[in-house]
Amino acid sequence: MKKLFIKIMSITGDKKLEFLSLILFSLLVGSVMTALNPIVIKYMFDEGIIKKNFGFFILISVSFILLATITRFFELFYVLRMKKLKNYCSKKSFLNLINKYYRIPYYEIQKKESGYYTGRVYDETLTAVSSSFDIFSDILSDFLNAIVALIIVIGISIKTTFYLILVVPVVFYLSLKYQNKIKEYSKREKETESELRGFVNSMLNSYKTVRIFNLFEKIKNIVDYKFEDYNNSVYQNTKAINSFKTFSSIFFSYIEIFVVIACGYEMLKGRMSFGGFVAFMNAFWLCLNNISSVIKKLPEVTKINSNLERLSELENITETNNWHIKEEEIKLIDISVKFKEHIVLEKINLEAKKGEKILMLGENGSGKTTIANIICGFEKPNFGKVCGFEADKISACIMPFNFLPLTLKEQIDMISQNERYINSLLKDFNLENLLSKNPRSFSEGEKKKAAVMLTLLKDAEVYIFDEPLANLDIRSKETVMKKIFERTASKILIAILHGEERYFKSFDKIFNIKDKKITNQTH
Ligand SMILES: Nc1ncnc2c1ncn2[C@@H]1O[C@H](COP(=O)(O)OP(=O)(O)OP(=O)(O)O)[C@@H](O)[C@H]1O
Ligand SMILES: [Mg+2]
Repeated sequence: MKKLFIKIMSITGDKKLEFLSLILFSLLVGSVMTALNPIVIKYMFDEGIIKKNFGFFILISVSFILLATITRFFELFYVLRMKKLKNYCSKKSFLNLINKYYRIPYYEIQKKESGYYTGRVYDETLTAVSSSFDIFSDILSDFLNAIVALIIVIGISIKTTFYLILVVPVVFYLSLKYQNKIKEYSKREKETESELRGFVNSMLNSYKTVRIFNLFEKIKNIVDYKFEDYNNSVYQNTKAINSFKTFSSIFFSYIEIFVVIACGYEMLKGRMSFGGFVAFMNAFWLCLNNISSVIKKLPEVTKINSNLERLSELENITETNNWHIKEEEIKLIDISVKFKEHIVLEKINLEAKKGEKILMLGENGSGKTTIANIICGFEKPNFGKVCGFEADKISACIMPFNFLPLTLKEQIDMISQNERYINSLLKDFNLENLLSKNPRSFSEGEKKKAAVMLTLLKDAEVYIFDEPLANLDIRSKETVMKKIFERTASKILIAILHGEERYFKSFDKIFNIKDKKITNQTH
């Protein structure tokens, strides 16, 4: 509970006071009702019914009903305010994590399917924040109600209360036994859930491939296999949580029977009044139910704590691109890159100074895009030294280009306010009529021109274009190259092309990447 409290305090941030006041308010209302319930019952019977004082009986009943009605309205107020607070904190945590997501190194992001991080940043945040608030307030309120009811029970008969104390060591032992298991299974459950989400997301995105190759049944089998993995982890977690609940419930039922028998015996012996008996039973059930409710929620606390830990892990991932030394020119020195056991580049060297135009050529899979990613600081070489510009001085159009889910105009407005330049590019690239559309719906050529245009709009020292002419018609190729050379006149330009020899003479250096090596074949 302490861990949960600390985490909630950090989530609530500037709304700490509001959260604590709301909790205090709900505890107060809850415990007053718990205390009044058995006391009212005792007086209704002993002072009203047994002493035949009907007026008093009606008075106390009506007052209690009124009080209970007001309490319900208090509860409604609490639920609504708490919901507002939860919404506020969930949004804040989610926005914070979205920001952190973009700081996770690219090579980490690449390891997972795209939907994996949707699961972690979005789904997990919303459930963890909301359920941590709920469980914390529920446990505190159950605990306080149990204490209040216990005080009343002790007040009526200390002897029979003794049985309740037996609960503590047994339940403590059970909770210790299951806690670690639940924590481990909960983490695994969340991990497999995000993995499954990522996988399903990518599978659904492969719509055309599945239809063209008639893969319906095969896809079902693969998803079935992944789903089974997720189901197993959920099952294991549910098993641990419910085993704990079952053993503690069985133990609670034994205690209940003992107390009922002891109470009946005390009444037969004349040591307890009828009102006292009914009030005792009422307070006893309240006490037992609240303790039992706290106990049953303990596994949930462990589960939520482990979910919150996963959020913290994500928050604490930081980009340590200390291999990228900041300089005003680009120097790749003895760079080697391998993905798992597959060596892509071996001890390559490349230099680009201000105003230089560099062309990279090479077969598919030779490592051109990887070099572009290294210069941008996205990819981390396994060996070697990278000197280059700060990210804000680099503009790059690397394939595949990631458009934002916004219209072209909205994306342009986020990058540049240079209306004249924007309008001239829109006109030359023939994109004027597409401004209000989402680039997702563009043709491949239109997409390419939009990507090149966004890259050109950023004011930078280095411009990188990964196959800027692919999918373009002859006239568009001419326009795009013209605009690229215009924009990069006194800057560094690094372009990757396949063929298109007529443009080679415009470059200062041509690098050919072959068999993991890079050679300067400048004309
Ligand atoms: N994140 C990654 N994980 C594993 N392998 C990768 C990763 N990125 C690139 N590779 C591998 O590295 C090699 C070089 O890839 P790269 O994209 O740099 O090639 P390229 O020269 O740009 O090819 P193309 O002309 O087809 O665009 C490929 O064999 C590719 O499979
Ligand atoms: Mg490439």
